[in-house]
Amino acid sequence: MVKKGKKVTVIGAGNVGATVAFILAMNGVCHQVVLRDRNTEIAKGKALDMSQAANAARSHTIVTAADDAAEMEGSDIVVITAGSPRLPGMSRDDLLMINAEITKEVIQDVKKYAPDSIIIMVSNPLDVMTYVALKESGFPKERVVGMAGILDSARMAHFIFEKIGYGSGQIRASVMGGHGDDMVPLPKFSTVAGVPLTDILSEDEISEVVERTKHGGAEIVGYLKTGSAYYAPAKSTAIMVEAMLKDTKQIHPCAVYLDGHYGHSDVVSGVPVALGANGVEKLFEMTLNEDQKERFEKSVQSVRSMINVLKEKNFFDA
Ligand code: LAC
Repeated sequence: MVKKGKKVTVIGAGNVGATVAFILAMNGVCHQVVLRDRNTEIAKGKALDMSQAANAARSHTIVTAADDAAEMEGSDIVVITAGSPRLPGMSRDDLLMINAEITKEVIQDVKKYAPDSIIIMVSNPLDVMTYVALKESGFPKERVVGMAGILDSARMAHFIFEKIGYGSGQIRASVMGGHGDDMVPLPKFSTVAGVPLTDILSEDEISEVVERTKHGGAEIVGYLKTGSAYYAPAKSTAIMVEAMLKDTKQIHPCAVYLDGHYGHSDVVSGVPVALGANGVEKLFEMTLNEDQKERFEKSVQSVRSMINVLKEKNFFDA
């Protein structure tokens, strides 16, 4: 098919990948969405279904399934959701080796067919997979970015809403650090229509919000039993795609490579960045207090220790 306009390839047609593709098909932010999955029949069925939905919605976006990796050629953005899902009782970290191998394999295709694309990583453990994607692709760090901060902040905003019962849609919650149990919710940087959260909720209530946010993914896994969340993860991913394709320069918390930022190097963590046509266009360093700094350090360390596991297994040399 002739490439016209913006093209996004979504790798992995599971719940998250398919929902990302569906949101993009509905909002018309790109001209073409290519859905790729090891199971091409699933990708074909879902692409057909979405194409029909796009026609119902009078959306110009074309959705196709890729029989071959070559069909991702010319993509502006490649969203990677491929990986083993996080099943009940499984921590994000359990997925480490399995998903690192899958990511490595997928990245070979991206390098070959979409060498100028921006990679958005979604697979878990998120920060480590973003690191793997960066190292394996050899892309500049601006063009490899992980989705998690938008999701975790949205979860925190929802839990704040549940506590106060008003202000829905006006809550700006802030979460940084890795997408793991050590993520760093920042109530002091969170507001409801400009009113500091710390002036609205008690310390105990805030602690409850913080704890629930950290385990927000697991809470949903607990209900779904056979899989994990996908509506909020997919919407958060689509927000990143839109910021890049429309070159909005909007600021969102995303997982990016730290190169001396916040005092850390050769590691990935979630920090506020500006997203635009070139990917990550600016990284913001916030002034953290001692407690925030300590929690961020801990979060970075847990990502680093997983990267070290991969290094010890010579994952990056093979
Ligand atoms: C979540 C898991 C999948 O946060 O990371 O929903």
